[in-house]
Amino acid sequence: MADLFVKQAEQYSVARPGYPQQLFDFIVSKTPSHDVVWDVGTGSGQAVTTLASIFKSVIGTDTSQKQLDFAPNLPNVRYECTSPSLSMSELESKIGTESSVDLVTVAQALHWFDHDTFYNQVKWILKKPNGVIAAWCYTIPRTDDEFDLVFQNFYLQSKPYWDLLRGLVDDKYTTIKFPFDPVDGCDHTGPFEFETKKLMKLSEFFTYIKSWSAYQTAKEKGVELLNDGVIEAFTNAWKGDENGQKIVTYPVYLRIGKVGDLLK
Ligand SMILES: C[S@@+](CC[C@H](N)C(=O)[O-])C[C@H]1O[C@@H](n2cnc3c(N)ncnc32)[C@H](O)[C@@H]1O
Repeated sequence: MADLFVKQAEQYSVARPGYPQQLFDFIVSKTPSHDVVWDVGTGSGQAVTTLASIFKSVIGTDTSQKQLDFAPNLPNVRYECTSPSLSMSELESKIGTESSVDLVTVAQALHWFDHDTFYNQVKWILKKPNGVIAAWCYTIPRTDDEFDLVFQNFYLQSKPYWDLLRGLVDDKYTTIKFPFDPVDGCDHTGPFEFETKKLMKLSEFFTYIKSWSAYQTAKEKGVELLNDGVIEAFTNAWKGDENGQKIVTYPVYLRIGKVGDLLK
């Protein structure tokens, strides 16, 4: 699984959306102290720059060194390449000691993890009782009715090449296991909805598709998802501004919870 994002790391870093300030403001408002954040499955650091502007120190981890190679270098950010089955001793040596982390963030990656193992590690490393985990995904993009219709047909055609776990994203993280207490001021753990926008040229939109794990999987099976017919349909439906750009909107779904008092 972890290999699916290795080959297209460069496309990933240029074509994937970042995340809106409102999302970070909400998460930070629910996190009582802002010393250390662990961004797991950090990829090329899509969440890191904003986190680094708020927390004293950020640890970004990923199983792909190639993804990390494209992440931003910032003085208070440390990146670590971890093994897919992260052991407790690797967790302690690369990320931190028990009850040492204020916030764990997971952007567009939680669905790929072994949830039981990961949640045990999160509960161990978060400060008790108010350490927070925030995990979010974004689903398929929206532009305008004409283009969205072409895109939805294309997305259906791509379905056989997605891992089954992608279903958790299609479900907007409503069905993902999330064994944490609601944060203060909330009576549930989400999903809470946000949106992120990216101004794109059609060529950049194609790069976004090429950054999908499903695009990579199809290619390995000898199938070019962006074939001539698909490119023509997308090109005809893309009505950009004078620079050929359009605003692409991605709905974002956040699960957020606190670790609570594990001894209760
Ligand atoms: C869809 S990308 C998300 C990257 C980035 N966080 C973002 O918001 O765009 C998923 C990332 O999770 C990483 N990944 C997959 N399984 C992992 C695991 N078990 N532990 C850590 N990272 C993992 C992949 O290498 C990839 O970089």
